[in-house]
Amino acid sequence: MKNLLFFLVFIPVFFFEIPHRDAYGDEEYTGIDICKRCHETSYESYSKSIHGKKVVPHNPANEKGCETCHGPGADHVEKVADEKIGEIRNFGKKESAEDKSAVCLNCHTISKKLAFWDMGQHKKNDVACTSCHSIHNGERVKQVEQCFNCHRDIKSETNKQSHHPIKEGKVKCADCHNPHGTLSHGMIVAENVNQLCYKCHADKRGPFVWEHPPVEENCLICHSPHGSKTAKMMKEKIPNICEDCHDWSRHPGTIYDTRAGFTGSSPSNRFLARSCVNCHSAIHGSYAPVNPSSGSNSGKFFVR
Ligand code: HEC
Ligand code: HEC
Ligand code: HEC
Ligand code: HEC
Ligand code: HEC
Ligand code: HEC
Ligand code: HEC
Ligand code: HEC
Ligand code: HEC
Ligand code: HEC
Repeated sequence: MKNLLFFLVFIPVFFFEIPHRDAYGDEEYTGIDICKRCHETSYESYSKSIHGKKVVPHNPANEKGCETCHGPGADHVEKVADEKIGEIRNFGKKESAEDKSAVCLNCHTISKKLAFWDMGQHKKNDVACTSCHSIHNGERVKQVEQCFNCHRDIKSETNKQSHHPIKEGKVKCADCHNPHGTLSHGMIVAENVNQLCYKCHADKRGPFVWEHPPVEENCLICHSPHGSKTAKMMKEKIPNICEDCHDWSRHPGTIYDTRAGFTGSSPSNRFLARSCVNCHSAIHGSYAPVNPSSGSNSGKFFVR
């Protein structure tokens, strides 16, 4: 634990102290002014970006400018003169995702948000930094659209009738995920699913006097995290989802006609609309104590 604290609190302070590694040996650099002559547009986009600001310590601007990322350019400039078009276009091109990211990780290797990059699913699936960050178009990603480029299934979930207000702009992917990787399953920004949900739905945290075991276990037993076609992002309609675990035949007969099941050919009209939660409305847990005068135990049964 102490080590972890050290890691999270102190290492970022050292971030700027770490010298930029130079993998290029004695290839020659030209300096940014030469690049600017032929690449005005790229020069401008770079100058406007955070990477082009000298006031920011340990920035490419304070190192080799363009060549910090693209590599030494003297050879490139010579090839332009020789009109070796194919080689010119290939200047600085990296083949693998790992090599592409390595350029960035020269500097960004140790920061809180990137600490678990190696463990994340993106790194493991050959997604590079530049799949999401565009250096010459503002490093900050328009995250939702960017994510949807690859995660079409999630896009369709967020378009379903009941969904987290992601496309409405009230919730971002990064509110729940760290795209750079986390120690948790699904790259979520909490220890587990429930801890994540409690961040915004604190009323579901409890502790309750009467707990409903699946709620304590994992919110996703009943809910979809992004969206679903069933109201309140339920994975399945009520009463079906309740019936996965509860047997209707044991339901007290005095409450309604025992011959009418939860579902089937003659379902009780009590199961219309909100169905079971018409009565069991405190489905996430309740506080109601036993009422000594009536002996009512409604809390235990999540009936308010
Ligand atoms: C004399 C003109 C000239 C100079 C100076 C020059 N370049 Fe180029 N560069 C070119 C040309 C021409 C191409 C090929 C562009 C094309 O066909 O789209 C090119 C291609 C590139 C590419 C690949 C572009 C791509 O399509 O992926 C990069 C990156 C690049 N240059 C960076 C630099 C950097 C960094 C410097 C400074 C070290 C530099 N260039 C200096 C003319 C120049
Ligand atoms: C922080 C790293 C970094 C710096 C600094 C940088 N570039 Fe780039 N550049 C990239 C990456 C990564 C790409 C690949 C395309 C992308 O992801 O935006 C790129 C692409 C390019 C291209 C190809 C055309 C394009 O926009 O896709 C040119 C040309 C270029 N850079 C020139 C320059 C010049 C000139 C400078 C300095 C004025 C410079 N770059 C500074 C990282 C950098
Ligand atoms: C020479 C060191 C260096 C290199 C190489 C470098 N960066 Fe940076 N980068 C910085 C510094 C310094 C900052 C500003 C301080 C900060 O916010 O971390 C920064 C900031 C950023 C930011 C935050 C922008 C913002 O608005 O807050 C992103 C995203 C980023 N870099 C991505 C990249 C990517 C992607 C690459 C590789 C193509 C890369 N960087 C290469 C040093 C570098
Ligand atoms: C799957 C998409 C994705 C990939 C891959 C990715 N990033 Fe990011 N990055 C983001 C998003 C989204 C944010 C904004 C996070 C937020 O809003 O909290 C971000 C933020 C950042 C920041 C700013 C952090 C801060 O403290 O605000 C830096 C620096 C950065 N990324 C660097 C990198 C580097 C370096 C890599 C590669 C090793 C990388 N990113 C790979 C999506 C990505
Ligand atoms: C309200 C929180 C929340 C938001 C916002 C959110 N997610 Fe998720 N996402 C989750 C949870 C929880 C999981 C399940 C994690 C697990 O498997 O333990 C998940 C799983 C995933 C998975 C794994 C595949 C799957 O379907 O299980 C992907 C991919 C994903 N999310 C992408 C995204 C993208 C892209 C966005 C933004 C458009 C986004 N998420 C927004 C909470 C969220
Ligand atoms: C270039 C494509 C690409 C982009 C862009 C991208 N992802 Fe992914 N993502 C992947 C791949 C590939 C996987 C691994 C296979 C899978 O689970 O679909 C993955 C996996 C995930 C997972 C699941 C992790 C797990 O443990 O199962 C989450 C969550 C996720 N991405 C979130 C995001 C978010 C948030 C963004 C936007 C900031 C984003 N992705 C952008 C390609 C991408
Ligand atoms: C970053 C904040 C945030 C996190 C984390 C979060 N939610 Fe939400 N959730 C919201 C917002 C905002 C709404 C919309 C509330 C509204 O419209 O009144 C919402 C609505 C919902 C709804 C109701 C949907 C509807 O159709 O009415 C459910 C169910 C829900 N969330 C479940 C979850 C679960 C399960 C988790 C954990 C996987 C979770 N939420 C994590 C912010 C969050
Ligand atoms: C046993 C199934 C089940 C589990 C597990 C479950 N829920 Fe629900 N949840 C429901 C039902 C049913 C509704 C609809 C209640 C209604 O319509 O009155 C609902 C509605 C919601 C709503 C929207 C209405 C409201 O009460 O705010 C949110 C938010 C929510 N749940 C969050 C969570 C969170 C967070 C967890 C995990 C801690 C969780 N749920 C676990 C069944 C469940
Ligand atoms: C994943 C299985 C699961 C699902 C789905 C589920 N429950 Fe439960 N439920 C349980 C368990 C386990 C208990 C605790 C039973 C016990 O203590 O005997 C419980 C207890 C209850 C109780 C209190 C009864 C008692 O004897 O303490 C009620 C009422 C209840 N559930 C209603 C519902 C409703 C309504 C739904 C659908 C919205 C639902 N449950 C969905 C597993 C589930
Ligand atoms: C008309 C109101 C009402 C409806 C609708 C209703 N219940 Fe109940 N349920 C109750 C009451 C009241 C009790 C407590 C009975 C008692 O005090 O013994 C109860 C008790 C229970 C119990 C605990 C008794 C046992 O069998 O161990 C479970 C589980 C349960 N209900 C599940 C469900 C499910 C699942 C649904 C939907 C398919 C549902 N109920 C629909 C009112 C209702």
